[in-house]
Amino acid sequence: MLRRFLKICFICTIIFNSFYLELSAKEIKHDFYVKMEDIGIEKAVKRARQTVKLLDEMYKAFIVLITDEYVKDDTMFSALTVSKKVFEKMGAKGWYKARLIDATGDPHNPENSPKTKFERDAIEAFIDGKSFFDKTEKIGGEYYYQAASSLSIVTDGCTICHPHNKYGDLLGGISYTFPLDMFID
Ligand code: HEC
Repeated sequence: MLRRFLKICFICTIIFNSFYLELSAKEIKHDFYVKMEDIGIEKAVKRARQTVKLLDEMYKAFIVLITDEYVKDDTMFSALTVSKKVFEKMGAKGWYKARLIDATGDPHNPENSPKTKFERDAIEAFIDGKSFFDKTEKIGGEYYYQAASSLSIVTDGCTICHPHNKYGDLLGGISYTFPLDMFID
């Protein structure tokens, strides 16, 4: 009798285990599908990051070139003001949003104070020594790729208009926001 009971228990355990394993396999499969979706997003984030790095490289090249080649005194039209005008034009065309942000706490233009949590976190990251900071956020059901890169005094020309700072000092950065679906197949 006892042997029979144990036998039934043994068979039940095997049936339960195989059923359970099948279920977990399904879960793993489901998890895998979710991950596949994430990989899609990761790919888009990678593309967005490359695009931002390319753009950022270009902005910084002309900010330094304009500063070195043209700026003689602080009454001149600065490369930063030119950049802001370009940001406006790109934003108006719906490409991306970009902003000049301050890290000194005493900006030339109060408009440049960090406004969002992302911008404040980016400034903290710059103060910690990072030169690039990015995050992808879901806002109102849409994914947005946000990235910021630092701007420091890399040429003495900067100190013509930022006289309270010296070579190497962090002044702020540029923050970019892209709708992520621009980079999804
Ligand atoms: C000809 C003057 C001038 C020079 C040279 C200059 N800047 Fe500025 N900078 C400005 C002005 C004016 C603003 C405010 C622009 C605005 O918001 O319209 C500004 C703003 C900034 C900001 C945003 C924070 C703030 O103070 O508002 C950063 C960051 C910055 N400059 C970095 C630099 C760097 C880095 C260099 C050198 C590569 C540089 N600047 C050279 C005039 C200058």
